[in-house]
Amino acid sequence: MKRIGVFDSGLGGLTVVKAILSEMPKENIVFFADAANMPYGDKTPEEIVAFSRHNASILNEYDLKALVIACNTSDSIAGDLLKQSYEIPVSGVIKAAAEEAVKQTKNKKIAVLATKATVLSGSYQKQIKELDEEIAVTAIPCPDLVPLIEEGRFIGYDELLDRSIDKYLEEARQCEADTVILGCTHYDLLYDLVQEKMPDVKIVSSSRTVVQELKEILTGSHRLSRWKGKDIYLSSSCSQHLDQIAAKIIPDIRLQKK
Ligand code: DGL
Repeated sequence: MKRIGVFDSGLGGLTVVKAILSEMPKENIVFFADAANMPYGDKTPEEIVAFSRHNASILNEYDLKALVIACNTSDSIAGDLLKQSYEIPVSGVIKAAAEEAVKQTKNKKIAVLATKATVLSGSYQKQIKELDEEIAVTAIPCPDLVPLIEEGRFIGYDELLDRSIDKYLEEARQCEADTVILGCTHYDLLYDLVQEKMPDVKIVSSSRTVVQELKEILTGSHRLSRWKGKDIYLSSSCSQHLDQIAAKIIPDIRLQKK
C-alpha cells in the first residue's frame, strides 16, 4: 500500500495529518514525530539538517508516494536538500503558506509567527519577497510556544500559553499586519485563539495550506488512493502522556517507538 510520509519534530505534524485526512480521507499515512529531539527551533542548522535527513530516511522505509515536511523549521533549512534527495514528490509547508498569505494581504504587511530557527533562516521573508517585493514581512520568533503546546497546554484555557501568545501577537499588531502566518505546524492548534484575539486579521496556517498543493500533485499524477487502510504513527520517544495529548488532535492515536 502506497503511503504519504509526514514528519515533524513533534505533535505539530499531526495537524498536517488531520488536514490531509479531512481533505483526502482515503489516503494512507505514515507519520513520524522526532519527539526525542524536539524542539527543533533552538537547534543549529547542522543539527536540523541531520534530524530532517534521518526523519525522511525512516519514512522512506515504507512504500511512499509522497513526502510532506510538516515542520517549517526543517523545511526552512533542509527542504531543498530533501527535495533533491528523493524521486517522489516532496512538499514543504513554507511555499504554500507564503503564497496564500501573499494572496490574502491587502495592505502588503505580513507577520510570520515561527520558531527562532525558521525566522533566522529567512525562508519566509525570501519566499514572500520573491512573490511580491513590495510586501513588508515581519518575522516574529516565538520560542515559548512549541514546548507549551507539547505539554498539552492548548487543551482548554492556559494562562501561561495565553500570556505568551499575547506577547507575540503584540509584535504582529505593532507592524500593522493584516495577515498573520502561523509558520509552525504546532501553532495550528492555536488557530481559533489567535483569530479570536485578532478578529480583523487573516490567519494563514502552514498546516492547512500545504494540503492543496499535495492534492494537486496526487490528482495530477492519478495517485489519489481509493482504499483506506490503517495509518501508522511513529515517534522517537513514546509515553502514555504523549498519546493522550496526541489524541486531542487525532482521536485514538497510539504512537509506536521508532
Ligand atoms: N512544528 C515545527 C515547525 O513547524 C516545530 C519546530 C520545533 O520543534 O521547534 O516549525
